[in-house]
Amino acid sequence: MDINWKELGFHYTETDTIVRSAFHGRWENGRLKGEWEEPYATRDKYIHLHLSATCLQYGQEAFEGLKAFRGADGRIRIFRWRDNAERLQRSAHALKMAEPPIELFGRALRLALETNMDFVPPYDTGATLYFRPILIGTTPQLGVGPGVDYELAIIPSPIGPYYPGKFHCTTFIINRRVDRAAPLGTGAYKVGGNYAASFRATEEAHLQGYDCLFLDSKTHRYIDECSAANFIGIKQTDEGIEYLTPRSNAILPSITNASLMALAWDKGYKVTRRHILVEELAEMQEAAACGTACVISPIDRVIDPDKGRMYEISRTPGPVLTDLYQSLQDIQYGRAEDKYGWCTILNKKHTN
Ligand SMILES: Cc1ncc(COP(=O)(O)O)c(C=O)c1O
Repeated sequence: MDINWKELGFHYTETDTIVRSAFHGRWENGRLKGEWEEPYATRDKYIHLHLSATCLQYGQEAFEGLKAFRGADGRIRIFRWRDNAERLQRSAHALKMAEPPIELFGRALRLALETNMDFVPPYDTGATLYFRPILIGTTPQLGVGPGVDYELAIIPSPIGPYYPGKFHCTTFIINRRVDRAAPLGTGAYKVGGNYAASFRATEEAHLQGYDCLFLDSKTHRYIDECSAANFIGIKQTDEGIEYLTPRSNAILPSITNASLMALAWDKGYKVTRRHILVEELAEMQEAAACGTACVISPIDRVIDPDKGRMYEISRTPGPVLTDLYQSLQDIQYGRAEDKYGWCTILNKKHTN
């Protein structure tokens, strides 16, 4: 195996195995009953799927994303996997799919790690082993409705550092012609349809060299989130530092954002989750997108072409977000005490 860890991007790299578990069910008095098979690791990365499967016909698909970090001490830490397992259950519930039990998800994840240990990047390369759990409906049917058969798979892939070299800023653009998710739709769940729905706006933004910032789809006045990350703003007020993040029914509850909020709170900042008007960008000294992939991606400017406005936030990553980024990475890489119990150590002994 010859991987240049420092050159890896956020691309799929094939590993030894993926882990799978199927659910076979039936309806009993309107409730889905059935059994999950014990997760198993396989070298075969393809599945035999009927073309009428509910995932293909009606979008019964949900996924997750989480990482394993090889720490400074050689131990491998998986970050907050239970939160991902719970979020997958919520997404499954939203699409009337079978919900993988938390402990089954945990066993599948452990197997995905243990059968791909050579793919956990060395410490200090910035690379990590990313896991992409997916859940799909596999029942062949034409009638519009949820199926009874599901497949959970965990796909590991080493991924590169989000910022090879230096932590840098990105410019975002607002698009009022494409909505990512309806106000009471599936925006709060991690389901494939939300991403397909956002591609028109994100690709348009990318062609101009920007990323896309989505607004609430009801009024287009408030900030919702980015295509695959939450939004954070930092305000310096007379009372001190305020960490602001949108409250909305249509955004994904980010595990990174929840972790950063806990850290911000512990640092003595005011932490506020509320509706945030686009115009408030003018009062922010720092802003960022946050998520598993990038942790924090600082924003230098936000362009609002429909209103003819440009919000200049910070040309370089600001001190508050840089410090929060460091604090979170220190826990993920085992350089700081994990007082929140966020990391699960899978190899107790040193195996660097
Ligand atoms: C739409 C969306 N929002 C936010 C996030 C960040 O969530 P997390 O921090 O759990 O990765 C993601 C990535 O999973 C996402 O796809």
